[in-house]
Amino acid sequence: MALSTQPYKGARDFYPEDRRLQKYLFSKMRTVTERFGYEEYDAPILEPIELYMAKTGDEIVHEQTYVFQDRGGRTVTLRPEMTPSVSRMVAAKRQELQYPLRWYSIPNLWRYERPQHGRLREHWQLNVDIFGVKDASAEIEIIQIADAILREFGATPDMYTIRLNSRKMMDFIMREDLKLSDVQAHTLSRLIDRRAKMPADAFAAAVDAIFTPSQRDTGNSDRLLELLDMTRIEQLPEALQRQPATQELKELMATLEQSRIPNVIFDITLMRGLDYYTDIVFEVYDNHPDNNRSMFGGGRYDGLVGLFGVDPLPTVGFGMGDVTLRTFLEGHGLLPNLRSETDVYVITIGQVYQQAQAAIQEMRELGLNVAVAPAGSKTDKQIKIAHKKGIHYVLFIGQKELEKQQYTLRNLLTSQEEQHSIARIVSIIRDYRTTEA
Ligand code: HAM
Repeated sequence: MALSTQPYKGARDFYPEDRRLQKYLFSKMRTVTERFGYEEYDAPILEPIELYMAKTGDEIVHEQTYVFQDRGGRTVTLRPEMTPSVSRMVAAKRQELQYPLRWYSIPNLWRYERPQHGRLREHWQLNVDIFGVKDASAEIEIIQIADAILREFGATPDMYTIRLNSRKMMDFIMREDLKLSDVQAHTLSRLIDRRAKMPADAFAAAVDAIFTPSQRDTGNSDRLLELLDMTRIEQLPEALQRQPATQELKELMATLEQSRIPNVIFDITLMRGLDYYTDIVFEVYDNHPDNNRSMFGGGRYDGLVGLFGVDPLPTVGFGMGDVTLRTFLEGHGLLPNLRSETDVYVITIGQVYQQAQAAIQEMRELGLNVAVAPAGSKTDKQIKIAHKKGIHYVLFIGQKELEKQQYTLRNLLTSQEEQHSIARIVSIIRDYRTTEA
């Protein structure tokens, strides 16, 4: 039987056009993130499983990690997320680094999930994190970056919504108000996270099952269900509104509004699955009616760096996946038609392959990306090939052109032809490249 040509289930091959799109996505991510003063880092794709045990969350660690033994008998994991790795790196140089640290990375991550719309087993994820800032300026900056990236792709605020919640406030509700134990609070957080995907009665029954009979008798579960239906901070009970965590959330929303980010809403059911978040959490939703789902998210996690035995460090960040971003851009018609990396395709006419080399090399030396058609091939066929490859210019070099040092440049999009010197051709194509970028 012949070998399969399919990539591993839930993972992707990147043919040049896919890679081109990915490079486009990454380059905009990099441009915007660096605009806010962030520096790029990286770490190995393999990590010890213990790194994720403490705080990543049961589902990822026990059901979704790729774990195996290396040849030396060590248990290793293909990283399912970047946050523990970056926290490890920062902890290793806790004393030497200059704070605030503004770091970003675009790692390839692996999670053994059931592949479905928007979720695969491998994805790339932009991670943007700021270390060493206690106050809300960190959240503001991180959400501004998330917003600026979407705008850089041409998105407008009506296309997405930024949902915000406070884990601290939720903690207050669960422990002080509902008097739940640690285990009950943890189970309830998980359940609230899944609420949108459950029928209302099934959710209510699952909440009831978490409460003890005496907790249920005091009407706590009904009160919780009522709370979870509230969509504005002003609807919350007075005592809860007075909580510092709630006040902070309100302030944050007001500041974001002032920084021209109007599409922010409060979502009391937003928990985010990962265990390490300690305070503000946020998630960006696609507003497209066919894809009304979470695109990416993050939050504050002040306890992770400290797990490595160094002084704790306040941290805020987010992870933006390439799969969900692409679906978003596609849905809103924001994906451009990308041209090939090759600027010009040279077609030699007649027996001039050898004499044409000087002109071809000159173009490369002047910074153009130049591919050359095989000598003696049919001109029409080669033009079609250039077109299909997404190359926008063809340059013809024949005996006449070589004698006059004037070459015929055809723009394949407009079919216009002009004759110029190599220097002029280089400048035309360079100008074209900058207007395209
Ligand atoms: P997360 O919510 O698990 O957070 O993932 C962040 C984003 O990565 C998701 O919203 C989605 O865009 C993408 N993503 C995750 N899993 C998949 C998948 N199986 N297929 C496609 N895309 C996926 C984290 O990973 C946190 N470590 C993010 C963070 C950084 N928080 C603070 N700093």
